[in-house]
Amino acid sequence: MKIAIDGPASAGKSTISKKVAQALHYTYLDTGAMYRAATYLALKLGLDLNDASKISEHLAQAKIDFQPGPDNTQQVLLNGVDITATIRSEQITGAVSQVAALPEVRQTLVAQQRKIAAAKDIVMDGRDIGTTVLPDADVKIFMTASVAQRAQRRYLENTQKGMTSSLAEIKKDIELRDYKDSHRQVSPLKQASDAVLVDTSNLDIEQVTQKILAIIRQKMK
Ligand code: DC
Repeated sequence: MKIAIDGPASAGKSTISKKVAQALHYTYLDTGAMYRAATYLALKLGLDLNDASKISEHLAQAKIDFQPGPDNTQQVLLNGVDITATIRSEQITGAVSQVAALPEVRQTLVAQQRKIAAAKDIVMDGRDIGTTVLPDADVKIFMTASVAQRAQRRYLENTQKGMTSSLAEIKKDIELRDYKDSHRQVSPLKQASDAVLVDTSNLDIEQVTQKILAIIRQKMK
């Protein structure tokens, strides 16, 4: 089965998708990490972030791999180098929407995503999985949460990591990324017409995981 999980930034997609994939023994693919890896590559090479053909030319020759890390984490490798932590930096987070809006970059990454998903049971999370990458997915989930909730979760996550951050800044950043991801021309963030909406605002991780597993098991019958 192919499971598509889409939704806005910080709705908890990757945490939940990973747990759902584990419970089903499916492969998990974090497509956001691929856009982050592309952004990292472009910045590292000093490329103009508007130069779609240059970036996708380099991207087509680069190798993005995922491998299991400690404590059920997934490591992201670019040409064999571990970039897991680096791609979560403020610099990458601030620039990724710009790179993800480039049509050639999307074309390159969507082709890679489809190849990874071929002939495999998979849980894929992103923004355009149900609408563009896997339009025939067996189950489509659109996960949302209020901006206030998402900001609060990110704030707590940062605090736990020992990072000081401002809740107001996080909220502004989430609103800006929502806007950019939903208003780009190619494959904007949008709920697929056949996706099930799951609002996680008042649910914890376990509750959301169980809810999504129940939706999937219903489909499997
Ligand atoms: O899920 P994330 O925050 O790691 O995603 C990083 C960025 O990549 C996000 O701002 C939108 C973009 N993205 C996308 O355009 N399409 C996807 N399928 C996944 C992510």
